[in-house]
Amino acid sequence: MNGVLSALRDRARARLDPVHWDFYEGGAGTETALAENERAFARLALLPRVLTGTGHPDTNVSLPGGRASMPVVVSPTAFHRLAHPDGERATARAAAAADTVLITSQAATTAVDEVTAAARSVRSDAVVWFQLYLQPEAEVTAALVRRAEKAGCTALVVTADSPVFGRRGRDERNGFHDLPPGLAAENMRDLPGAPPGRTRDIAMSPALSWDDLRRLRDVTGLPVVLKGVLHPADARRAVDEGVQALIVSNHGGRQLDAAPATVEALPAVADAVGGRVPVLLDGGVRGGCDVVVALALGAAAVGIGRPVLWGLAADGEAGVTAVLEELRAELAHVLTLCGSANCRGPARDQVVARGARAC
Ligand code: FNR
Repeated sequence: MNGVLSALRDRARARLDPVHWDFYEGGAGTETALAENERAFARLALLPRVLTGTGHPDTNVSLPGGRASMPVVVSPTAFHRLAHPDGERATARAAAAADTVLITSQAATTAVDEVTAAARSVRSDAVVWFQLYLQPEAEVTAALVRRAEKAGCTALVVTADSPVFGRRGRDERNGFHDLPPGLAAENMRDLPGAPPGRTRDIAMSPALSWDDLRRLRDVTGLPVVLKGVLHPADARRAVDEGVQALIVSNHGGRQLDAAPATVEALPAVADAVGGRVPVLLDGGVRGGCDVVVALALGAAAVGIGRPVLWGLAADGEAGVTAVLEELRAELAHVLTLCGSANCRGPARDQVVARGARAC
């Protein structure tokens, strides 16, 4: 792991309530998927191309609902106010200052309109996407979508890997079920079916299907990004259904423990999509080399989850900025060392398994 990130992780751990640390850090089951996300990157090496004459790389990327100054975006994670009193507002300001996309979670402890306002206090064109779990009651989903649209979000990220909540042993052992007094999933307040001023629980349902995704089209014109895709057939289907980007993700190892490392699932998904829409990846990205490996294997950008929470817990907005700027610097450096002019530069034949004969 990158040294700056690992120092922030240590500081976050020292500062956080151990129960909240476990909530952030933990995964499902034996935490195999969680560990494999990072290990799989460590098993891969990059073959640099030399004398390419490309100069300093351009790290800008174009994504649905906006652009970003680098191919590193903030993945949606719940409950930022457990990490820092400024919570999602601090994260939003840091992402906007870094000129990258923030995906704010449906399970945020700050309402989406306050998140976009914080981002736009830094950059008027800050790009914020809203992450959504399709709710079994269509009117609840529709109300959430309207809330995100009104707040100025430019895409919806539908998380599809959670037909049920993951079984997370650390949370079960710690008895972590509820937020502390004063904190709530603010986007879930005042929705249909909830008493005025009260929040609803986020519902997950194994009955949800492609039909429900299609019905989203009836309530919004926003681009839809599908998060949690690992099977190439699902990737193909998603593109056929009109999804405008995919995120190869195993939810940071928090859902299916037997899921593959995301970097191992990426090439087949990228092949299935065949460049029709951008493919993003998250899970285990802990440094610039990981970003460039993902780009080489077909990702348009990567997302980071826990590293943002480490920065936030360690040092609020400045900590999130430190994470994003360190990844930007390292990624530009690695692109240069690999002879790439931009984020589309790294090629699949530049990634080799460690211990294997190159080419
Ligand atoms: C998440 N993730 C997540 N995903 C999502 O779609 N909605 C959510 O509310 C959350 N909440 C959440 C909380 C915490 C504490 C973590 C660690 C993760 C998953 C997240 O978006 C992303 O897929 C992973 O975090 C990526 O892996 P890394 O970067 O944490 O290894």
